[in-house]
Amino acid sequence: MSVSFANWPYPRVAAHRGAGRLAPENTLAAMRLGASFGFGMFEFDVKLSGDGVLVLMHDATLDRTTDGTGRVAGRTFAELARLDAGGWHSAAYAGEPVPAFAQVARWLLRNGHRANVEIKPCPGREAETGAAVALEAQRLWHGLAVPPILSSFSETALEAARRAAPGLPRALLFGQLPGDWLARCDALGCVALDAQEATLSAPVVAAAHRAGLRVITYTVNDPARARQLFDWGLDTLITDAVDRIEPGVRRA
Ligand code: G3P
Ligand code: MG
Repeated sequence: MSVSFANWPYPRVAAHRGAGRLAPENTLAAMRLGASFGFGMFEFDVKLSGDGVLVLMHDATLDRTTDGTGRVAGRTFAELARLDAGGWHSAAYAGEPVPAFAQVARWLLRNGHRANVEIKPCPGREAETGAAVALEAQRLWHGLAVPPILSSFSETALEAARRAAPGLPRALLFGQLPGDWLARCDALGCVALDAQEATLSAPVVAAAHRAGLRVITYTVNDPARARQLFDWGLDTLITDAVDRIEPGVRRA
């Protein structure tokens, strides 16, 4: 599997954590809602349970997005699967489970959707999580033309992902753009820079493109800002505003 710069096989917009804030993040219910708004690509966060199962969860702890408490890494998958990951959001989603990465991958593949899998390791598990996500993604998407993009703020995780499954496309995430962003993307063999939207400018997008990198950005919720970013040549944006950013948004 390889992704070339010349042929970017991903939509221009991806739904953040499934459907932004309209449904409980990192659940299948959120992705179904995002899909109902026409989205065909989903960003979500993946980490390891205590017994080595990859699950969708943003935080290292359970408290914010489930009815459990404590560390994700301190629970088995069987324990995580019994938690309510929807009731914190609203009554309509009460009982929504914490999904395994493999379950979500099956839904994505069955529906022809693309994925941006953010490797979100619990502290101290960076390399282990990066390798596990890459191997699982390689297995689940085996033989398919368009693999998921693996992204991470953790260079350790992305390096481990590269070693485990070198053919999968990678993107390095930045909250602030350091002076050496290009060298750091290159060192990991990334296909894309994935930067917080306020850090981007037309010259940065152009510099990335000159270097053969695509540009992904998060989290863009203002349609006018989205149009400006696309005018600069942005390749894919990640949004919470699945009800306000049209999936087919084009350059102004
Ligand atoms: O993958 C982009 C974005 O999701 C990174 O930030 O905290 O929402 O995972 P966060
Ligand atoms: Mg994320």
